[in-house]
Amino acid sequence: MEERLNIVKKLTGLSEDEARTIANTGGLPSDVADRMIENVVGGIAFPMGIAVNFKVNDRDYLVPMALEEPSVVAAASNAAKMARVKGGFNVTNTGPVMIGQIQVVDVRDPQGSKTKLLAKKDDILKKANEQDPMLVSLGGGAKDLNVKVLSTLKGPMVVPELIVNTGDAMGANAVNTMAEAVAPMVEEITGGKVFLRIISNLADKRLVRAIAVFDKEAIGGEETVDGIVYAYAFADADPYRCATHNKGIMNGVIAVAIACGQDIRALEAGAHSYASRSGKYKPLTVWEKDAEGNLVGKLEMPMAVGLVGGAAKTHPAARAAIKILGVKTAMELAEVMAAVGLAQNFAALRALATEGIQRGHMKLHARNIAVSAGATGKMIDKVANKMVDEKRIRFDRAKELVEEFSKS
Ligand code: MEV
Repeated sequence: MEERLNIVKKLTGLSEDEARTIANTGGLPSDVADRMIENVVGGIAFPMGIAVNFKVNDRDYLVPMALEEPSVVAAASNAAKMARVKGGFNVTNTGPVMIGQIQVVDVRDPQGSKTKLLAKKDDILKKANEQDPMLVSLGGGAKDLNVKVLSTLKGPMVVPELIVNTGDAMGANAVNTMAEAVAPMVEEITGGKVFLRIISNLADKRLVRAIAVFDKEAIGGEETVDGIVYAYAFADADPYRCATHNKGIMNGVIAVAIACGQDIRALEAGAHSYASRSGKYKPLTVWEKDAEGNLVGKLEMPMAVGLVGGAAKTHPAARAAIKILGVKTAMELAEVMAAVGLAQNFAALRALATEGIQRGHMKLHARNIAVSAGATGKMIDKVANKMVDEKRIRFDRAKELVEEFSKS
């Protein structure tokens, strides 16, 4: 690692300080980092905060969240506190089921091949399950076979899909190994040629459904309830708003995912493809007013996360975060993440529908600007508070204040 970093330093003019910052891998031992990916020169750390007040399925959780954006942890904690008035979050899941796709081209009789593949289902599942006896012994494994015939730019394709219960693993490795293993059999049965053998990140058989009722008085009255319902209707009608609406949900989901060492690209791909499943991009949450005038929020989305394998196991900070959270299964982690996503969405919509997000946001943002303008120690808050009072939260003003306060 050191040798690589020295080369990069020479080539790019990194200073000694900059190189040292990168070389510091934080909570991740450098030998672990070096094995995790390739060409490793160091690491980059994010702050980990703990969201509080979360009650999910009648259990209290401390929720580790890692991200760079101010306000998110505070907003989640505040939303979870309001949700507690009516019992917190109720979350269910459809089980840890993933889909592995096998792409077959040049098939002479696609519909006939589909029938033949389905007739050989037991043999195909058996071959798949031979790849992971451990998973099978824990009750997981390939459970079913689905076959699609697609009409594509390159003609018809037959796509057998393995339906795999991946237990406490996110499942990409298990599913990809199975898909590769059954490919020769699939070629033999169909007479076609297999190209791709890969998991689908549209994990629509691994859904979480969270629901929470927010007491109208606890959240600011009927006008706030109406404002949030209007905000939802806006997102439902317009993909430009919907992207931001769903981004707010992912602020929570991804922050927990990073803290717990999950594959965040898979989660994002799953979320947004699921949001588009009707052919239109839609919100992952629904917000309604109930008969008593309280606000009801529901979230439904894929949540492919795991506790065994990947960084959840190899990254010591992720392992510690999972211990803080205290979840025992992958789907319990998924359920907490769904609650955080719903809480985050609520917090954003409530702020947007009332005072706007900038007041709270800018206070925290002001501290970051103060630091980048050179403030340290007690001066950070002094500079930040002054900028907030003046409503001039800008780098040039922060610089002036740092100079002014340094003199005094
Ligand atoms: C900012 O990170 C997230 C929000 O934009 C979400 C939203 O607009 O709903 C506040």
